[in-house]
Amino acid sequence: MATKSLLLAALLVLAVSLAPHGAEAAGKQPPLAMISGVVPCSAGNSINVAAVPPFPNAAVQMVCGRDVMASATADRSGTYTMNMGPATSSLLAPLLGNQCKVVVVTPLATCNASLASVTGTLTAPVQLLGIDTGSGNGSGSGSGGLGGLGGLIGLIGQIVGGLLGGILNIIPLPFSVV
Ligand SMILES: *[C@@H]1O[C@H](CO)[C@@H](O)[C@H](O)[C@H]1NC(C)=O
Ligand SMILES: *[C@@H]1O[C@H](CO)[C@@H](O)[C@H](O)[C@H]1NC(C)=O
Repeated sequence: MATKSLLLAALLVLAVSLAPHGAEAAGKQPPLAMISGVVPCSAGNSINVAAVPPFPNAAVQMVCGRDVMASATADRSGTYTMNMGPATSSLLAPLLGNQCKVVVVTPLATCNASLASVTGTLTAPVQLLGIDTGSGNGSGSGSGGLGGLGGLIGLIGQIVGGLLGGILNIIPLPFSVV
């Protein structure tokens, strides 16, 4: 896993260096990086959000390394959406390096007083899902899965080269208390 991250980080650097003209050349804004999910009102490991109550009004943050990249408040059903802004290489690098996670800032006791004794923070790792270029159905490049590592590298290259706009979808993996 660590080796793969290093490889991806190296490829990102390569992609940046091979695309000297960047987004201006192709005239597209980079895609917006978006993430959404549901916060569980539960403690544990790899929590299945469908099997436990949601955490209404939870404050969540996207943290990459030590930086808070975005924040949001969940709605009454525990659903949150965060817009991390343009997917530039300063966001893609920590994402590919597995340095980003969703952190629930509101204490668990807020949704269930019997969880007051839980020490730790609900945290979810994140994963790049794919891109929705917003160009409708059909031949849109790469909506849906990334088709493995090769697809991911191609996607990053296209983003860095300014060839793709739209929405870059990032998904949270299950929350755990850490
Ligand atoms: C609160 O948490 C406790 C301990 O996990 C659990 O047994 C209980 O069902 C929860 N209450 C609600 C309303 O979810
Ligand atoms: C998009 O979907 C509509 C309805 O399903 C279909 O008629 C149309 O041909 C599709 N367009 C492309 C480019 O696939």
